[in-house]
Amino acid sequence: MNKRQKSKNLASLSKTPTKELIEKIILKKEFSQLPEKDVEIAFSHFDKPQYLDEEKIKLTRDLLRKVFSVFTSKKLLKIKDKSEEFILKKHLSTKERYEFYDEIYKKLLYDFQGKINIIDLGAGVNGFSYDFFNKLNKKVNYLGVEAMGQLVEFMNYYFKKKKIKGEAVHMSLFELEEIKSLIKKQEHPKIIFLFKTLDSLEMLERNYSKKLLEAVTPLVKMVAISFATRSLVSKKRFVVKRNWILNFIKSNFDVLDDFEIGNERYIVFCKTI
Ligand SMILES: C[S@@+](CC[C@H](N)C(=O)[O-])C[C@H]1O[C@@H](n2cnc3c(N)ncnc32)[C@H](O)[C@@H]1O
Repeated sequence: MNKRQKSKNLASLSKTPTKELIEKIILKKEFSQLPEKDVEIAFSHFDKPQYLDEEKIKLTRDLLRKVFSVFTSKKLLKIKDKSEEFILKKHLSTKERYEFYDEIYKKLLYDFQGKINIIDLGAGVNGFSYDFFNKLNKKVNYLGVEAMGQLVEFMNYYFKKKKIKGEAVHMSLFELEEIKSLIKKQEHPKIIFLFKTLDSLEMLERNYSKKLLEAVTPLVKMVAISFATRSLVSKKRFVVKRNWILNFIKSNFDVLDDFEIGNERYIVFCKTI
């Protein structure tokens, strides 16, 4: 399609209703398997009279890219039968965690004997780290919740092939009632991982992290959240200290641990007893 045809097509969008614009947004393959809810929230930021329809499409896609696809190499979605190490090193979040998995899981799961049920919210490809649980002799039922359908399929393919007690589900963390009922269905003891995902949620809805933590923490034995302490892209140390969420956690829950390993800070807490 040449430039003129393209702008003609976009101009013809000017009166299309929201649903049609959302359909246009998800025509891009990288967004094609995102939950509708997340695309709608992203779109709502730009569904304003000052924007033309083509601007709304572009700005929504830019935001969705920042929240979802920036961490995932396109190659990752095409490969299937590579080693866990290869895959974990192809995703920006797990790449920098790779050499510390032993240490991190040892610290987080130290107090747990017997079967542990891990619910990994905004899992990315973290399910591919399952072997590190085996190395520590921890018996884990792993449930990953992830918005990018491609990553969900990818993890489920791996779990099946390796006969791992794991499952990934395609769900938005903004579907709070569904998330709560999913967590309630899991057996005890339950641990929630929320690694490097709160920032993504905040980009779509400010203060949603608090709402999510308030809703899910009482349902489980322990929650472990993490933040990158350096930019995943430029590697520069973040100046922001994230006191807003740390203060919220300290005043609403019991903090069990707070440590930094690699370029990631972990805060572990549970409901107040
Ligand atoms: C920075 S990555 C972290 C991945 C993983 N937790 C880790 O640390 O290895 C954030 C992940 O959260 C997912 N995510 C963001 N918003 C989400 C939402 N509303 N519902 C479900 N997953 C979401 C993204 O698709 C992405 O895989």
